[in-house]
Amino acid sequence: MTRPVRIAASILAADFARLGEEVARVEPHLDLLHVDVMDGHFVPNLSLGIPVIRSLRTVSALPFDCHLMIANPADFVEALHDAGATGITVHMEAVPDPRGIARIARSVGLGFGLVINPGTPFATMDPYLELCDMVLVMSVEPGFGGQGFMPSVLSKVEAAREAIDRRGLEVGLQIDGGIGPGTIGQASRAGADVFVAGTAIFRRPDPVDAIADLRREALLSAGPLGADRS
Ligand code: DX5
Ligand code: ZN
Repeated sequence: MTRPVRIAASILAADFARLGEEVARVEPHLDLLHVDVMDGHFVPNLSLGIPVIRSLRTVSALPFDCHLMIANPADFVEALHDAGATGITVHMEAVPDPRGIARIARSVGLGFGLVINPGTPFATMDPYLELCDMVLVMSVEPGFGGQGFMPSVLSKVEAAREAIDRRGLEVGLQIDGGIGPGTIGQASRAGADVFVAGTAIFRRPDPVDAIADLRREALLSAGPLGADRS
């Protein structure tokens, strides 16, 4: 059986003046809405936060996958949950020992994920895979949409895929940054199964077609499900 593919649209590339409409248009075609939260400190940019998540929750039933590019994520877990987040993903560079925040996230009913920057080795996250619903390998430096995909991170995706399958874990393997029709196949072949795309969805003339193209390309390169790997 082929590994299933999930597509997450990053709203960072949407038109914020028409955010509800932009989300409504793509909602039936997506698996997740990827919400990039930045603090101008952990990354050199600001984006959006709790009030926007709360408003979006009134118009969308999608899972909100909140990518926290913030220095002190533990301070916001409960508020994010109350605003309507479904899961949070926390940077290893911000929280080197994530066991405490994982426990807080679980206690309020949030999904939990860990993320590494392009320069951070997979080994930093490897001991904590059992804490996670999802792990994320950044394929650009976090902070900005529209950057070029870094193929050098693919070896970390392969290492994560190998570890997840060997340990029989049900952990999504997400990739974020520069994902489009020309790069999603490589990421899928390396073992990713959750694909974040902002520019390649919201900056295309037809975002619905764009999602279908991405899904098709990812499925064409998807490997077998963990248990079927020989
Ligand atoms: C970058 C963000 C990404 C970004 C992806 O810091 O984490 O989610 O929105 O944008 P694209 O798909 O345009 O590279
Ligand atoms: Zn992101």
